[in-house]
Amino acid sequence: MKPLLAPSILSANYAHLEEDVKAAERGGADYFHLDIMDSHFVPNITFGPWIAKTMKSITDVPLDAHLMITKPREYIPQFLDSGVELIYPHIEASYDVFRTVQLIKDLGGKAGITLNPATPVSTVFPLLDLLDSVMLMNVCPGFGGQSFIPSSMARITELRQLLDDHKPSVRVAIDGGVNMDNIAELHKAGVDFFIAGSAVFKSDNIEETVRKFKEILNNA
Ligand code: DX5
Ligand code: ZN
Repeated sequence: MKPLLAPSILSANYAHLEEDVKAAERGGADYFHLDIMDSHFVPNITFGPWIAKTMKSITDVPLDAHLMITKPREYIPQFLDSGVELIYPHIEASYDVFRTVQLIKDLGGKAGITLNPATPVSTVFPLLDLLDSVMLMNVCPGFGGQSFIPSSMARITELRQLLDDHKPSVRVAIDGGVNMDNIAELHKAGVDFFIAGSAVFKSDNIEETVRKFKEILNNA
């Protein structure tokens, strides 16, 4: 599967969001990642579905929304209506997560699911028929710029194996602590959808950084 890079605009500078987004687009960003936080599921607040509309007015690059919120089903229709292509709710957010993922599919979206670092990889198994992508958190969600939890590597290998055995078309996505030093190793372990926030938007040259990430991935 062609590896994809999704810069997270959580770390962009909102005084010049369009400039930052356009630079990442020129560098070859495959998606833009929207981190939606509600101060309940995670100890931080960001933005709602309107950010997707804003992004759609700036770029044609597809959007994915990472829902770090306790009631994802209430907002999924709005995110899809606002132009988000792929939605990643958290598996820990609802005891009836099957309904959440089913709703995304019923409304025509691509369905992802996200697992916190302490959630067993095997919990995705019952959902596999509905999923396009599984995202593993390398950090506890809530903030950009945190460092990578080392046990993530073993979890990636375990997840890729489970998917290869049961539904090879599902992507392995990774979020948190991705940088120029670990991206090749992550790719080798089986990741093909990379979220990177601070490594892209806090760099001195956003366009060049995205280009470099893509080069590493394409040459791996
Ligand atoms: C954290 C978010 C991430 C964040 C990643 O809760 O889900 O998407 O933007 O930021 P970095 O790449 O800086 O760890
Ligand atoms: Zn995220």
